[in-house]
Amino acid sequence: MALRAQELIESPPHLHGFDAAGRPESWALSPETLRLLDDAIEPGSRTLETGAGVSTVLFALREADHVCVAPAEDEVRRIREFCAANGISTERVSFVVERSELALPRFEPTALDLVLIDGSHSFPNVFIDWHYTAARLRLGGLLFVDDINLWTPRVLHDFLREDPSWALDAEVPMRSAVFRKQLAVDGAANWTEQPFVVARSHLTRGSRAMAMLRQGQFRTLLRRLRPR
Ligand SMILES: C[S@@+](CC[C@H](N)C(=O)[O-])C[C@H]1O[C@@H](n2cnc3c(N)ncnc32)[C@H](O)[C@@H]1O
Repeated sequence: MALRAQELIESPPHLHGFDAAGRPESWALSPETLRLLDDAIEPGSRTLETGAGVSTVLFALREADHVCVAPAEDEVRRIREFCAANGISTERVSFVVERSELALPRFEPTALDLVLIDGSHSFPNVFIDWHYTAARLRLGGLLFVDDINLWTPRVLHDFLREDPSWALDAEVPMRSAVFRKQLAVDGAANWTEQPFVVARSHLTRGSRAMAMLRQGQFRTLLRRLRPR
């Protein structure tokens, strides 16, 4: 009988190689995040993740039409072997064994229901992953960002929290955040339309006021202009 999601989450396999002492390693999503992912995937969901591991097994098990982009061939081999040994088909999973920041710009921009960003956590790779997947996510689709304790995913998390195109759906503190896409994402948006950027920029009073006007923040602007 095929492994069930609950069993996978409770005893996840080690799929990420070995440490210097030869012990098997796992950089898997937390059990809480895996549960959120399990709830969000439907059979036939169009999904994409950067990075690979237990999450990939879960996408396969839940029969998503899944794309996994990660450069480590040995991880992909372990995932395939684990799935085969546990009665999980990987037929609907397309593995792209390459760094996502190089592969994603070449992909056809087909629609996606769910994206998981959990590949390279270096600067600027997290943002490249987001840039090339956010526009493809359908309205109402979910974006999972893992490792928000690290600076790069944290900045993405903080940006999305303040951006009107996204609503926070769930958060596992210091681990992961799930955002729901509410409005089309305009890759060409001017910085003045990005509240996160405006709030953290060194601006003259005049240019800050203009940026607030463009964002329709009339009340905040009036409050600031009122004499103390
Ligand atoms: C934190 S692990 C992913 C864990 C996985 N989500 C799970 O639940 O087991 C990070 C992954 O990113 C992959 N990775 C490293 N550099 C990458 C890059 N430039 N592009 C895509 N994936 C990358 C690693 O090979 C590894 O699979």
